[in-house]
Amino acid sequence: MILCIANVLTPEELATLTTQLDKADFVDGKTTAGWHARLVKHNQQLDRNAAVAEELKGLVMGALQRNSLFQMAVRPKIIRPPLFSRYQVGMSYGSHVDNALMGDQPLMRSDVSMTLFISSLSDYDGGELVVETPQGEQEFKLEAGSLVLYPSTTLHRVEPVTRGVRLVAVSWIQSLVRDAHEREILFDLDTARQVLFEKSGKTLEFDLISKSHANLLRKWVEL
Ligand code: NI
Repeated sequence: MILCIANVLTPEELATLTTQLDKADFVDGKTTAGWHARLVKHNQQLDRNAAVAEELKGLVMGALQRNSLFQMAVRPKIIRPPLFSRYQVGMSYGSHVDNALMGDQPLMRSDVSMTLFISSLSDYDGGELVVETPQGEQEFKLEAGSLVLYPSTTLHRVEPVTRGVRLVAVSWIQSLVRDAHEREILFDLDTARQVLFEKSGKTLEFDLISKSHANLLRKWVEL
C-alpha cells in the first residue's frame, strides 16, 4: 500500500525546519547509502553532528507519533531517526532498493519507507519521487508538510532537480505487522470501524468489526 498523508507538520514546525536547515551544514549523501545505492545517490544530507540535528529529528518524530493516520497505516515498532536530504540543481537519486537491515542499536528491518516533503512545490522543479509498482511507475511530489509512505521492498528513485532546492526528511519503519497485505487489511478494518462508529455509534456491527480487527492484530503482530 502506498499512502499520502497531508499536513503532518504544523506551519510553525515547517518554518522551524526550513529556517534551521537553510543555515545548517550538509554533507555528501553517499555516507549513509548501501554500497550499490551509493553508486546512484547524488544528494546531500544534514551533517549528523550539526547542532540542530537532534532537535529537528525530534520534531519530525513527534509529528509522526501524534499522527493517527500514520500510526494506523504503519503500526510502527521502530522508527529510524529521520535523515534530512537536500537536492540542489542536477542532483538525483537513481533507482535503488533500500537496505533491508538498518541501524545497530537496535538492528531493525525496513518495512515501510517514508518521504516527508519540506520544500514548497514552488521552490523547485523536478525532484519527483518515483516508485516502481506492479501497476507501473507512480510519481510523488507533495505539498510541504505532507508525506508519502511506500513499501521498502520497491525499487524507487528521485528524478533530477532542474531548478531550486528540494528538501525532504526520509525515514524507515519496522512495523509490528511485517506483511504488507496484512497491514492493509488491518488498516481497512480500522478505518471502516471508525467510520461506522461516527455514523451509528457502538452498534453490534461495530463490535464485530472491532473484534475481528483485534483478533487479526493478535494473530499477525510481532512483538
Ligand atoms: Ni531509497
